[in-house]
Amino acid sequence: MPANRFNGNSNLGIGIGLRIPHYQYILDNKPPVDWFEIISENFMVDGGRPLEILEAVLETYPIVQHGVSLYFGSIEPYNTDQLRRLKRLTEKTKTPFLSDHLCWGSWDGSFSHDLLPLPYTKEAVRNTADRIRHVRDFLEIPVCVENVSSYLEYNDSTMTEWQFLCEVVETADCGMLLDVNNVYVSSQNHNFDPLDYLNGIPLDRVAQIHIAGHSVYDTHRLDTHDHPVCEPVWELYRNVVQRIGPTNTLLEWDAHIPTFEEVHAEALKAQAYLAPDSPKNDRSRSKPLDKNGERKEPATTASD
Ligand SMILES: [Fe+2]
Repeated sequence: MPANRFNGNSNLGIGIGLRIPHYQYILDNKPPVDWFEIISENFMVDGGRPLEILEAVLETYPIVQHGVSLYFGSIEPYNTDQLRRLKRLTEKTKTPFLSDHLCWGSWDGSFSHDLLPLPYTKEAVRNTADRIRHVRDFLEIPVCVENVSSYLEYNDSTMTEWQFLCEVVETADCGMLLDVNNVYVSSQNHNFDPLDYLNGIPLDRVAQIHIAGHSVYDTHRLDTHDHPVCEPVWELYRNVVQRIGPTNTLLEWDAHIPTFEEVHAEALKAQAYLAPDSPKNDRSRSKPLDKNGERKEPATTASD
């Protein structure tokens, strides 16, 4: 297994997102969760209930910060005040790294509140990598970029999404938050092989993996984070962890949120893909690259 260029294979374990419906349960019961991911923007405040909750959770659990408003692919300059507030939060949480999305969504001081896909061009690579480096230098902590689900493509794109992601992280020399649900959703919406995606990116930069559920419609799949993880997404998860080893894993569940126990149980299904002796960790079922860079077909069995 190759060393992880980004974080030396450090692994917090399996976490879940810290969400409002679960606050009281977590504070009352201190359930055995490896770590929590927070949405930074929910805690970039000067005081009040959110920070009280955060400080109480920090007494028991490691926290990793994830964001939704840095818009690495936008073109306007960063708001320094926003970055200062973000930095204060990273100092409080001691997050080992900070992640946000490979997208754009702000212009002229307005925010779309959507994670809009980028045109996959050299110009967008340069701009996005510059902004990732700017954030990293300002915050003085490692930064990871997450692939998003998308529902449209641009005529101006000159490369695939995975080529674009690869060029951005290599140019910025940053880490990746690989969302295997987003890879799968986009592969179905844009008709590409998700294994081509996984084979085309530097997996040794993956610091964290997102798993999640999504919704299926007649014409497309939508990244809704309101279902259990589907089997094809677990297959992609297995493929990645078999190549790079146990990696910080986080289940996202953001709508129609069930009880804490149900969300935690869904996240812990990932253990079966990490345990060396588990049937779900059967290497013969995955499609690793051979030494020539070709993808091997999986061995088939009667039960397949
Ligand atoms: Fe995600």
